[in-house]
Formats: sequence, C-alpha cells, structure tokens
Amino acid sequence: MKKAGVAILGLGVVGGGTYQILTEKKEYFKKTQGVDITVECVLEKNVDRALSLGIERSAVASSIEEVVSNPNVDIVVEVIGGVEPAKTFVTKALKSGKTVVTSNKELFAKHWTELEAEAKKMNAGLFFEASCVGGVPIIRTLQEGMQANKILSIKGIINGTTNYILTKMANEGSSYEEALKEAQRLGYAEFNPTADVEGFDATYKLSILSSLAFNKKICIENVYREGITAVDKEDIAYGKEMGYTLKLLGIGKDTESGVEVRVHPTFIKNSDPLASVNDSFNAVHLVGDAVGEIMLYGRGAGALPTGSAIVSDVIFAAKHDRYFYTNFENNKKGNKQTKFVGDFTSKYYIRLSVADKAGVLAKISGLFAKNNLSIQEVRQVAGSEGEAQIIIVTHLCSESLVKKTLEKLKTTAEVFAVKGTIRMED
Ligand code: HSE
Repeated sequence: MKKAGVAILGLGVVGGGTYQILTEKKEYFKKTQGVDITVECVLEKNVDRALSLGIERSAVASSIEEVVSNPNVDIVVEVIGGVEPAKTFVTKALKSGKTVVTSNKELFAKHWTELEAEAKKMNAGLFFEASCVGGVPIIRTLQEGMQANKILSIKGIINGTTNYILTKMANEGSSYEEALKEAQRLGYAEFNPTADVEGFDATYKLSILSSLAFNKKICIENVYREGITAVDKEDIAYGKEMGYTLKLLGIGKDTESGVEVRVHPTFIKNSDPLASVNDSFNAVHLVGDAVGEIMLYGRGAGALPTGSAIVSDVIFAAKHDRYFYTNFENNKKGNKQTKFVGDFTSKYYIRLSVADKAGVLAKISGLFAKNNLSIQEVRQVAGSEGEAQIIIVTHLCSESLVKKTLEKLKTTAEVFAVKGTIRMED
C-alpha cells in the first residue's frame, strides 16, 4: 500500500478540519483509496491549539526548516492564508522536493507562476483545490472532467460572506450595514470584512478559475472588481418586483473579442439556477462547447468542507507519482498575447430620482435615444413630494455608452440623483 506523510502548516479552522478528516478517516482511506496517510507533524505557534486537537507535543515542529528536513514528510499542507509567511514556507517546501497542497487563494492568484516553476524544478506536486469555492470540487472538474470542452463561460457565486449578506438584504429587507453585522456575529464575515465585501476574495478565485477554464494566465489585474458596499436595499427590492435577484457574481467569458473577467453585483433572472443559491452557499455554472451547461453547488468555506477539498488533493498526491503542470497559451509572466475586453456589453438597471412633473420622462428617454441607448423597460414609482423614482432597464449595450449617458443625466436639472446602476445577466 502506498504511504504518505503529511505536515500541516497552520491549525486554524481549516487546518483543524483537515487534521480531523485525515486522522479520523485513516482506516477508511486505506480501504477505499489504498493509501496510508499519516500526519507526521504540524507547524503552529499556538501549541495549546495543537494539543487540544490531540496532537502530540513532539509532533509540533518549531520551524519550517524542521518540517521540510523531515524525511517522513512527503506532502506539506499550507493553510495559513495570506501571502507571507505562507509564500516563504511553500517555497521552502517545494525547493526541498515536497509536494504542496494549499488553500491559499491570495498566494496562489498572486504567485502561481513562480510557485509552479519551483515545483517543476523538483518534480513536486502543487495542488490548490481548496483555494477556490471551498468544498466544491471545481478545480478538479476543470482540470480532469472538462478536457473535452472549450469552456465558453464561467459564472459563479464564489464568495459565501457576500452571498449571505445579499440574501439577508433580499429576504428580510435589511440594510447592508445590518446584514454585515449579522454576518460578523455568525462568523461568516471577518472583523475587517474588506477582502470579502470589496470583492478581492472573489477576484482571486475568478483569476484562478478563469485561467484554468480558458487555458490562459489571467492575472488579478485583468479582473474588473466591484464589491457590494454600495448596494442599496431599495434596488434589491425593485429588482425583486421585476423578477430579478441580486448576486455578487464572478463572470468569465472567452469571446471572439477577447477574454472578459469581472466581479460585480449582478441582477439575474429569478429562474436562473444561480438565483436560488442562498445564504453562505456557493455555486459555479460552466458552459462547455461539448457538454453544454453544468453547475456545481456547495459550501465554499468552513472546517470540514474546505478540509474535504484539501484531503482530496492529499489523496490525489499520495496516489500519483507524476505531476502535471499548467500549459497556458499566453506568456506566463504577462498577458501580452491575450486580448482582454475592457468595454463590457451588458444590460443595465438604472434608478433615477427625478422631478415629478410633465415632460421629465420624455426628456430622459430622449437623452437615452440621443446616446443610442436602447430601453427595454421603464417603471415609475411615486417618491417623496415632487419627486419620482424612475427605473430603466436597457437592452444589451456597451458600458462606455452607459457611462456617457449617466454623465449627461447627472447634469440634467430634472434629475436629482442617479441612485443605482447595476449590470444584468440574462
Ligand atoms: N471568505 C470566503 C467566503 C471563504 O466568504 O466565501 C474563503 O474564501
């Protein structure tokens, strides 16, 4: 039977879950997978945390050097998060010929190329299933299950914290601030929620996923990013009345005009399968030219779901002697050979606060017509005295055209304010 020794760097929530699965299911993996996996050591400053998980004091290493020089360690699991010291530790492990399994999306999105070069030099494995969408096996699906396809698009709810917040705003009419507080109380959102609510976490994941989907290295700088901090509950409510649900989507498309990668709040039809992905759940929808549509749904975070993804990589690494590396068609150090779409084509929801008097609607629609912006739907809702809310849904149009029109609207006397502008995906 194949044997593998594992070291776990970091015993936070995910490290603890990984340790639990690897130790409690040791016999099960021997029977079902034909591999005997042993956690040889851990690297964790908080020794009491290690002891509380049942780890022997002698198995708590005092430095990364001690871990990488241990001949019984074949696979190093990095679950520290953030760039440093994770990058230094992972590099040292790869330079020592150890295979690395990581859940670290920021490290991976920013330093994938360098880390892979180190792995290649030593013929070591580099696995990252847990870096994107937690327990949902999206990386292996892209790498091992979709090879027959040219992937045309990827769309996903790839951040659980923001999905929890938007679901609460939609279902309970909470404000963004109220929903964020509740997400923090439940432990979904961190004390400093920036990485999630400003869309950085989703951007790291989309950069990794769309690189694999389109076989082109897509750097985080190539991903358009907009978070949910400016989302107004009024817009969620108006959208709901019109048959739309608001989600923070990661969207990647490989089109004839170039690759398009973006993270932003998006209205989708209530009938879209992603619209029923609620609370902290995640889902990814793919379109392949052979298979058509597929969708994966599950938990994107948490000790056991993320531990599940890590352990699947550990088992894969333990069962294979040769590893495969990416073969992106563009220059790995940059994206010079890949064209990126900057001016997206989308439908738009635009909410205006306007003077409620004769001729205003005609003036606004005239402005749209003058800018060649085609309207699909218009609604007017009575506002406070002398004021009305006008909601306009456009047909597909270019972002630059919308921006130009919005600038004109802002200088129109009868328009008090542009209250909301949200992209829509049908
Ligand atoms: N903070 C992430 C989320 C989980 O809310 O989905 C880890 O990426």
